[in-house]
Amino acid sequence: MADQDLYPVPAEWAARARVDAAGYDKLYGRSLADPGTFWLEQARRLDWIKRPEIAGDWSFEAHDFHIRWFSDGKLNVSANCLDRHLAKRGDQIALIWEPDDPRAEPRRFTYRELHAEVCRFANVLKAQGVAKGDRVTIYLPMIPEAAFALLACARIGAIHSVVFGGFSPEALAGRIEDCGSKIVVTCDEGRRGGKKVPLKANVDASAAHAPGLATVVVVRSTGGDVTMQPGRDVWYHEAAEGLPATCPPEPMGAEDPLFILYTSGSTGKPKGVLHSSGGYLLWASLTHELAFDYRAGNVWWCAADVGWVTGHTYILYGPLANGATTLMYEGLPNWPDASRIWQVCDRHQVHTVYTAPTALRALMKDGDDFVKATSRASLKLLGTVGEPINPEAWRWYHDVVGEGRCPVIDTWWQTETGGAMIAPMPGATDLKPGSATKPMPGVDLQLVDAEGQVLTGAAEGNLAITRSWPGQMRTVWGDHERFFQTYFSTYPGKYFTGDGCRRDADGYYWITGRVDDVINVSGHRMGTAEVESALVLHPKVAEAAVVGMPHDIKGQGIYAYVTLNAGETASDELRAELVKWVRTEIGPIAAPDKLQFAPGLPKTRSGKIMRRILRKIAEGDVSSLGDTSTLADPAVVDDLVANRVEAG
Ligand code: WT7
Repeated sequence: MADQDLYPVPAEWAARARVDAAGYDKLYGRSLADPGTFWLEQARRLDWIKRPEIAGDWSFEAHDFHIRWFSDGKLNVSANCLDRHLAKRGDQIALIWEPDDPRAEPRRFTYRELHAEVCRFANVLKAQGVAKGDRVTIYLPMIPEAAFALLACARIGAIHSVVFGGFSPEALAGRIEDCGSKIVVTCDEGRRGGKKVPLKANVDASAAHAPGLATVVVVRSTGGDVTMQPGRDVWYHEAAEGLPATCPPEPMGAEDPLFILYTSGSTGKPKGVLHSSGGYLLWASLTHELAFDYRAGNVWWCAADVGWVTGHTYILYGPLANGATTLMYEGLPNWPDASRIWQVCDRHQVHTVYTAPTALRALMKDGDDFVKATSRASLKLLGTVGEPINPEAWRWYHDVVGEGRCPVIDTWWQTETGGAMIAPMPGATDLKPGSATKPMPGVDLQLVDAEGQVLTGAAEGNLAITRSWPGQMRTVWGDHERFFQTYFSTYPGKYFTGDGCRRDADGYYWITGRVDDVINVSGHRMGTAEVESALVLHPKVAEAAVVGMPHDIKGQGIYAYVTLNAGETASDELRAELVKWVRTEIGPIAAPDKLQFAPGLPKTRSGKIMRRILRKIAEGDVSSLGDTSTLADPAVVDDLVANRVEAG
């Protein structure tokens, strides 16, 4: 490893660190050597109604295993995020909301005000018949009411299921039905990059496929026209009228579910990842403090959308549990121009900003002037998440944005893990561009080869985790068997992440990307099977195969191979129509970047599509297609190569 590739802990960070290098080794060592004591000690960072005496209680072995943490503990997540701060920092800003339009006014809520808003929202949900354990689907853009709604669910013990505002009515309906939620919280319209997103109209359209939907609570945000269906739809502001701004927090078992969040896998429909109350909140709070050395008074900005797990854990639950000032931004990082993200940092004196490599690559492309036009003097720490960060983008972030003074915290984790799993601690970990560095306390990693052989020392393999951690998902909603099959059947007794990974001689981890049929588009997970099923729903499509391909900005793009029904003719119009079709079926993030018409797909004699070959062709790496002799019809490969789509 060349010296210039190592960024030692800056002296001032080492001096004031909560955890220094020796401290990290001790903390990590203790977490694995005596997990029972370690985790009960850590649990003290939360405010319990009944403090737990049992730490982890889990096994990864049998099909019917359950993962439980702090199972005799009782707490309320919203009380941990709000009530317990009132005495000490009731007048501190809890939430800063920065609007899409830079000319519009930001909004600020103190802990006391946020508490009142959440209580009122909770009372509205109750008045609409929502009770403990009920599922509430939240389809909201990045407005303060999104924070109120999530925390209101937590307050009354309802399970929220947030659906990203970029998902289509069909995708929304599937998620409403899968978890059996009878209520959706939405708003008239979303606003992003100066454009309106018709969220309420999308809910109306989804209702045809979601027969169980009985109530729609509509927040007025843009003031745009919507149709209200009598008996089903209620305006939030009308429903809230006269309701009190206090609401007692429901005592919840640590293992009671907090939320469901749907995520794509390599097969089938999106899975409802279920997270717990106690273990999840502990993980959110602990990792936010350790990886970002969070201190009282720092303004914290996680620039993700609340529709993804990053928004759940690091806009809301982690920072609020830690009493932070958290910033929520309605818009896009590069609208009206590429200075915007840094202007927001200046405007609100942001200490730490946390964003995705895809955003950094897009901003980098627009040139350094947009960065240099801003001060960024408040910035002390830079975070990244969602996909492997290429060293070039890492260095740009560090050198240009951070002017060399801000450590870059690259955090590897997943919807399933609840919070960061591999990440540096700024006072403890020397940095290497492109590596998420070392595991968090309690995270016991293993590299395994395709046969399940454990690799030691410097090695490259598949990343598995050998023991549970408090923030781990507990099950797939309604399908525990699928939970087992997806995560624990590849390597019995271990959680398989789906990622490839290299460990270097210093014990640093380098994630190389998904090794399953999942594509990471701009840090968002997309299942190839999902895009394929959407394509074959089109009346002209006989068969489809979808793979990832390298993409300069998005990290990975979507490359689709489509075989048409007999008698149909390929054309540019049909190609555009199919891309639009997928946008409508799933959402813009699923739209193929390239679509190639293929008279046949490369299949083995047993009919299995050989994706390895399709990936190579999509990458443009046609000289090394490997052994094609096992194909039922090797000639199809020549046609695929000859008709490869070069440009979008
Ligand atoms: C997949 C999980 C974590 C919240 C956002 C995405 C990839 C995530 C990193 C990183 C390399 C990363 C992995 C992982 N990923 N962070 N820092 N370095 N890869 O959550 O949608 O559940 O996706 O994102 O491939 O498996 P997700």
